[in-house]
Amino acid sequence: MTNATNKGRVAVLGAGTMGAGIAQVAAMSGYSVSLFDVSTAQLDKARAGAAQSLDRMVAKGKLDAAAKESALTAIETFTDVAKAVAAASVVVEAVPERMELKRELFTAVDRAAPESALLGTNTSSLSITEIASVVRDPSRVVGLHFFNPVPVMELLEVVKGVRTSEQSVDAALTFSKALGKTAIVVRDFPGFATSRLGVAIGAEAIRMLEQGVASAEDIDRAMELGYRHPMGPLKLTDLVGLDVRLAILEHLHREVGEQFRPPALLRQMVRAGKLGKKSGEGFYKWDAEGARKA
Ligand code: CAA
Repeated sequence: MTNATNKGRVAVLGAGTMGAGIAQVAAMSGYSVSLFDVSTAQLDKARAGAAQSLDRMVAKGKLDAAAKESALTAIETFTDVAKAVAAASVVVEAVPERMELKRELFTAVDRAAPESALLGTNTSSLSITEIASVVRDPSRVVGLHFFNPVPVMELLEVVKGVRTSEQSVDAALTFSKALGKTAIVVRDFPGFATSRLGVAIGAEAIRMLEQGVASAEDIDRAMELGYRHPMGPLKLTDLVGLDVRLAILEHLHREVGEQFRPPALLRQMVRAGKLGKKSGEGFYKWDAEGARKA
């Protein structure tokens, strides 16, 4: 990834964990970035998170200090969605997984973004086709599903809705390449190719914890050492967010079937505010820097 040339403007809508990561990677890849959120505190947090991740890359010799500074400078923040998308060539929506919220946002984006802009959603399981139905020209809408942590994970899952055009899929593949990601193209089906398998393992691990099969550490160690997963399923649920995984499971339970019924323990933990790394506690305890507490 380089930031030597300006490739156009990417508007990222939603400055949570994923939005912050997508904004950072786009900025590092030479795009100007408009990062939108309704909360200025969240925008500040996203900028601080991007700075921390860039620092880590500088410390590892993967990026020089000047590239870090120009990436940070390339990210402008907005609390007005119309202003954020006004000059965008690509829009990536990354707000919480609620269909109504996404439909509202896409209605506003449709009014304010240039007609030529590719309209992407980072949803991890909701229907691209349904989100696109509020846009006058739904052929412009495509799923652009990124993975956490965005600066590290290589995959971009490109999701083709019923009315997504081949031209939009091609534009998504070009965007993926420009970000240094490797893309797969999947059909719009609940959970796509990744979330369906990811949450199946995560939910089963939570049920095993409920049934006292083994400790959280040992369930994770089983998959790390026995299957070479880089991170066990409970640790990964802490990284992704328990609320995010619950929302995906609820959706897949409704759309696909009984095998995705959310475990009671997951529901209880979300109700208690144990959302994982971002709240300081999930299946493990985490400090403000994202390191595990003993
Ligand atoms: N920014 C920049 N660099 C980072 C980083 C970040 N946020 N996080 C990790 N890194 C870098 C580290 O600096 C390190 O670099 P080197 O290889 O040069 O040393 C490298 O990534 C590995 O990190 P660590 O040594 O700290 O720790 P690790 O080896 O355990 O790797 C991990 C951390 C990359 C997160 C790895 O555990 C992993 O791949 N875990 C699985 C993640 C995963 O499955 N993500 C998908 C979640 S599902 C999703 O996101 C989609 C959804 O819809 C919910």
